[in-house]
Amino acid sequence: MHALARLKPRRSFHLAATFLIGLVCTAALAMLLGAAVPAAAQDDPSLYLPVVFKEVPPAALSDYVLLGWNDLGMHCYNRDFQDLGVLPPYNTLWAQVIKRGNPPVIMTDTITVTYRFPDNTHSADKSNFWTYAKQLFSVDLAPDMGLAGFGLSGDMAAKADHFVAEGIPLTEFSDSNPAVRDPYQLAELVALDAGGKVLAQNTVVAPVSTEMRCDNCHKDGGVEGIRTGRVETNILTLHDEENADEYPAGHTGRLMDRRPVLCAECHASNALNAPGVAGLPNLSKAMHEKHAGKVPQTTDGCYNCHPGPTTKCLRDVMSSQHGMGCVDCHGNMEKVAENSNPWLNEPRCDTCHKEPQYAQDQPLYRMSTGHGGVRCEGCHDSTHAIAASTETRDAIKFINLQGKTGTLSSCLVCHTTMPAGDSPHTAQ
Ligand code: HEC
Ligand code: HEC
Ligand code: HEC
Ligand code: HEC
Ligand code: HEC
Ligand code: HEC
Ligand code: HEC
Repeated sequence: MHALARLKPRRSFHLAATFLIGLVCTAALAMLLGAAVPAAAQDDPSLYLPVVFKEVPPAALSDYVLLGWNDLGMHCYNRDFQDLGVLPPYNTLWAQVIKRGNPPVIMTDTITVTYRFPDNTHSADKSNFWTYAKQLFSVDLAPDMGLAGFGLSGDMAAKADHFVAEGIPLTEFSDSNPAVRDPYQLAELVALDAGGKVLAQNTVVAPVSTEMRCDNCHKDGGVEGIRTGRVETNILTLHDEENADEYPAGHTGRLMDRRPVLCAECHASNALNAPGVAGLPNLSKAMHEKHAGKVPQTTDGCYNCHPGPTTKCLRDVMSSQHGMGCVDCHGNMEKVAENSNPWLNEPRCDTCHKEPQYAQDQPLYRMSTGHGGVRCEGCHDSTHAIAASTETRDAIKFINLQGKTGTLSSCLVCHTTMPAGDSPHTAQ
């Protein structure tokens, strides 16, 4: 039986289309498998690194704890930018530092949080993004620098209640094994006091993938029999055949003659804060509407473009324990296409979890705050990785804090004496 049909009676989910709100929001998504890897190799799952996980014993908790997470649960970028760009490498990490006590205190003043990827210290030799960044985004970027001014290591920016490193230009290739895709890269976050003394640290996943299988259909001789030698040029050729006579003023000329092209030049994308050209469908609408009926209306169908059968970006407890898939939360292709504000209008936890203690205080989960000012994602992890995730690396930070995986639930991680109440949702 389907999970949605066997909700516990104490819950009051609405099972109908009510939760099929659209989507919305921020940063990164897809990518095309590129020419850098031979076509046959693209299909070889052995190219992906098997996940090796060493159990980290829970560190003795000191006076501070560091919660860290990625904002979306998956960031995608194009494998190859020489022809077109859907999304750049752009990974965003958040952290909160809590001074343990009675009560605990969320700290940002006088504290610095640094981030780095011990086994992923350079990108410019692993992606041709920097060769084409100027043409695609009209910016001069130093190698290994991201579009929001953050590189592969450095200090996170301090905000009122958290720290953030926005748009880290991370690739899916580790330094130690750069020929193998590894979409669950590990970041090391360290909190220091003003004197440089280490207060707390943790290891968090920065998920990143180029597994977008446009080649499933747009391979040479695929859709419309087009055969140009590369998936990307097959797609641009088809797009020119269908629409070249409609390209708006200021954007005319065959896309094949203007490479590399950014899709968001004409099709609005909130992921890039790109307004597009008025009157044209936004990129989400164009893509989901055009491909509705071309893919099964299932998670595997979505995995044609979202990463993917090998990456398995959907790894959360609801998918593994309750049988839920993309369509249960987002609706089908047509429904996604109807979203009037893609990336910023998305499904909400409290559409299904209706008890008042689970209410979001912001339209987006990733922006919402719960118990004592702790961010929802600090205890539950990112969307699509809601603990306990099936990706063992997602568990490392929870094991470091509370000695076990799953939602951060041990009160004594933050409180130094046992507080009243049995759940952070009902206490306080
Ligand atoms: C043919 C390729 C393709 C398929 C199949 C596909 N997507 Fe997408 N999707 C994209 C692209 C490309 C974007 C990025 C759009 C942008 O940058 O604004 C995207 C963005 C999204 C977004 C974020 C933007 C928004 O509309 O809120 C959601 C959510 C989404 N897809 C859900 C789904 C779901 C659910 C499925 C399966 C039912 C699916 N997609 C299948 C290509 C696809
Ligand atoms: C399951 C097969 C399939 C996959 C996967 C797929 N496409 Fe398509 N795509 C098609 C088909 C079929 C058409 C032609 C649709 C038509 O003409 O009705 C098409 C059309 C297009 C068009 C032309 C739209 C137009 O009318 O101008 C673009 C652009 C496109 N696809 C981009 C992509 C991108 C980018 C991806 C990967 C993110 C992708 N497609 C993945 C099957 C697929
Ligand atoms: C120069 C402007 C321009 C650029 C750049 C551009 N497109 Fe388009 N695209 C259009 C126009 C114009 C249409 C036709 C829109 C219509 O019929 O309403 C279109 C149609 C589409 C459609 C079919 C939508 C539908 O429902 O029929 C898809 C899918 C699409 N574009 C995807 C892409 C992708 C993917 C890229 C980047 C590789 C891209 N476009 C880049 C102008 C552009
Ligand atoms: C489309 C409806 C829907 C949405 C949206 C949704 N959930 Fe769920 N969730 C469920 C169902 C169904 C279950 C399993 C039944 C139950 O817990 O009663 C569940 C279970 C859970 C569980 C418990 C899993 C376990 O077995 O321990 C957690 C934690 C959870 N959801 C968190 C969230 C968070 C956080 C969000 C928002 C990011 C969210 N859910 C969004 C329907 C939904
Ligand atoms: C349990 C419910 C649930 C399932 C299953 C689910 N999503 Fe989501 N998705 C959400 C929620 C909730 C958000 C909005 C998160 C926020 O508000 O910060 C979201 C947001 C997104 C976004 C926008 C970027 C982001 O992370 O905010 C994309 C793209 C997306 N989902 C694609 C998918 C795809 C593809 C699948 C299947 C592989 C899928 N989702 C499965 C609940 C779900
Ligand atoms: C301090 C850690 C913490 C924070 C912050 C937190 N949660 Fe929870 N959450 C928990 C724990 C522990 C549980 C399990 C006990 C319970 O259900 O009350 C839980 C349970 C849930 C469930 C119920 C899942 C089920 O069993 O069906 C949902 C939904 C949920 N949280 C959503 C949220 C949302 C949304 C936010 C932010 C507005 C949030 N949580 C903030 C720790 C937290
Ligand atoms: C991730 C850290 C964290 C976890 C885990 C956590 N809390 Fe808290 N808690 C806080 C913070 C931060 C405050 C806000 C203190 C303030 O208001 O200044 C707080 C406040 C409270 C308060 C009200 C103030 C006080 O100390 O009396 C209660 C009661 C409470 N928590 C109970 C719990 C219970 C019960 C659990 C475990 C089921 C729990 N908390 C788990 C961080 C946490």
